[in-house]
Amino acid sequence: MPRALITGITGQDGQHLAEFLHEKGYEVFGLMKGQNNPKIGPLLAEFPYIRIVSGDLTDFASLVAAIRTVQPNEIYNLGAISFVAISFTQAELTSNVTGLGVLRMLEAIRLVGGEKDNPIRFYQASSSEMYGKVREIPQTELTAFHPRSPYGVAKVFGHHMTVNYRESYGLHASSGILFNHEGPRRGYEFVTRKISSSVARIKLGMQDKLLLGNLAAKRDWGYAGDYVKAMWLMLQQDKPDDYVIATGETHEITEFLQLAFECAGLGDWRKYVGQDKQYFRPAEVDLLVGDASKAEKTLGWKREVDFPALVEMMVRHDLDLEAKRAK
Ligand code: NAP
Ligand code: GDD
Repeated sequence: MPRALITGITGQDGQHLAEFLHEKGYEVFGLMKGQNNPKIGPLLAEFPYIRIVSGDLTDFASLVAAIRTVQPNEIYNLGAISFVAISFTQAELTSNVTGLGVLRMLEAIRLVGGEKDNPIRFYQASSSEMYGKVREIPQTELTAFHPRSPYGVAKVFGHHMTVNYRESYGLHASSGILFNHEGPRRGYEFVTRKISSSVARIKLGMQDKLLLGNLAAKRDWGYAGDYVKAMWLMLQQDKPDDYVIATGETHEITEFLQLAFECAGLGDWRKYVGQDKQYFRPAEVDLLVGDASKAEKTLGWKREVDFPALVEMMVRHDLDLEAKRAK
């Protein structure tokens, strides 16, 4: 039974990946930070097969201990301070967890090593946020980076470290440059979930208005369930490499709003949506659209859920959830 260690197990992708690997017959271990982390209970209630290991990306010794305990075949480094907006006010913490955390994990892998004929394979969760003020459209594995947030800068550091450890020490270390991916497990701080949950609450009479920031930004939004398959595929290749994972389509936030409000039968979104300065960022990523042709060709990866289906999935899920909560 192959063993996988996932950091960021309580996050959106950690949950999707745990489910996916369990179905593939893996023994799934999740790194969990803090003492008595309140997310343990709900996580194990939904995924009883996950085995929790204590550790923190800011604590090198804890990563070494986790790898020694688990003896994983594969490590998926999904742990991060991942909310771009908060990275502006907590830049040092973000750099430590999201940036230096990758270096600590790579060093821990180098130290512990793994089985001689079957060394540990490593996946780094890189991000389209690294492209920032984009240098070309669409963005590929070769597009230059121009990050626009402390989060983006930290991800560029982690990305280059992953490439460097692969080239310097021959580690089987791959980096997935994933564009935005969403779904019913998305955190409420991100714009798509903020919209889908607010639409549900407005529909059920629990909320009147939805306040957002910049509505003009465009994102390449895919479904998280499709994207975790790509992570796994990267680690099944003989050679490690970097891959863009994206849909190749970009949509303005107003398009997400339109579909979400229509899906709940609420009509024109403009009746409900306002703007608030607090949700604008000091620097913005205006447009993202990725070219995933390398992943499609080499990994055989293809996204299955399109943009309208994604919006509908999230709104329907939140309508059910909020209705249950209201009872
Ligand atoms: P998420 O829902 O925000 O989850 C982040 C996870 O990181 C949580 O489980 C969190 O644990 C954990 N974490 C935070 N600080 C940690 C620390 N010091 N040590 C160990 N773990 C820590 O993120 P996601 O959407 O699943 O994304 C997964 C990864 O992909 C992240 O690295 C993100 O930056 C990257 N990414 C995401 C997207 C996307 O669109 N979702 C796109 C590109 C790249 P707690 O819950 O205990 O705080
Ligand atoms: N969160 C949020 N809340 N975003 C808003 C709001 C609001 O009220 N109003 C407008 N936006 C705009 C943001 O300014 C941004 O342009 C866009 O909506 C998307 O914001 P998020 O959903 O917070 O995602 P993100 O693109 O900044 O970052 C996500 O995707 C990255 C990949 O490109 C995160 O998952 C990152 O971790 C990930 O790397």
